[in-house]
Amino acid sequence: MKPPIAIAPSILAADFAALGAAVRTIEQGGAELVHVDVMDGHFVPNISIGVPVVESLRKATRLPLDVHLMIEAPERYIDAFADAGADSLIVHQEGNHHLQRLLASIRHRNLGVGVAINPATPVGTLAEVLGEVDAVLVMSVNPGFGGQKFLPGSLGKMRRLRELREREGYKYRIEVDGGVGLDTVTEIARAGGEILVAGTSVFHQADPAEAVRKLRQTGVDALAQRV
Ligand code: DX5
Ligand code: ZN
Repeated sequence: MKPPIAIAPSILAADFAALGAAVRTIEQGGAELVHVDVMDGHFVPNISIGVPVVESLRKATRLPLDVHLMIEAPERYIDAFADAGADSLIVHQEGNHHLQRLLASIRHRNLGVGVAINPATPVGTLAEVLGEVDAVLVMSVNPGFGGQKFLPGSLGKMRRLRELREREGYKYRIEVDGGVGLDTVTEIARAGGEILVAGTSVFHQADPAEAVRKLRQTGVDALAQRV
């Protein structure tokens, strides 16, 4: 049974000198996933972490590792991240000219398959692959950094993805990434966001475990009140 609202804290906002403690804290808060932002300084204007950190995280937690590849030519690293212990890999629609083959190569490693779209990329660009993915990641900020402001235009994409899924019988979950916090989770949940990636709103709080619980509860309450 998939929870109506799942919280995927992004460790990009955590203290990189204490990632073990960070994942233990979000486990206490009941986080469903750990979101791991991999950045190469080319696909996005920032460099973060890579395969060795995923290997270490694999030993530190049993939570599923949801690895977001913001890198050029991700096909080069599917096996490396799969072998390191990733549970799902998210690749971008943008810049991947052979997207169907790329998604199939992730499926071939028996990993969860995610596809991400940046704020300027229409949902329609995914039309031919929506039947092949487990998650569509709606970027609600321009990728590369945590702590950015939520772009409300992404709400329409969540609604479109929810309508499409209902109409066509797709199975993907709607994942949202960027500027997710107590001030935005209500409209996100009502628009169809289900897996909520949260960096700053979890790890920059005094009590990250409580922040996870409050984020989820606020999202669940929003669904209960949805008219
Ligand atoms: C941005 C990353 C996001 C980011 C979220 O490129 O993909 O996952 O870490 O951070 P917040 O929640 O602080 O916006
Ligand atoms: Zn991310």
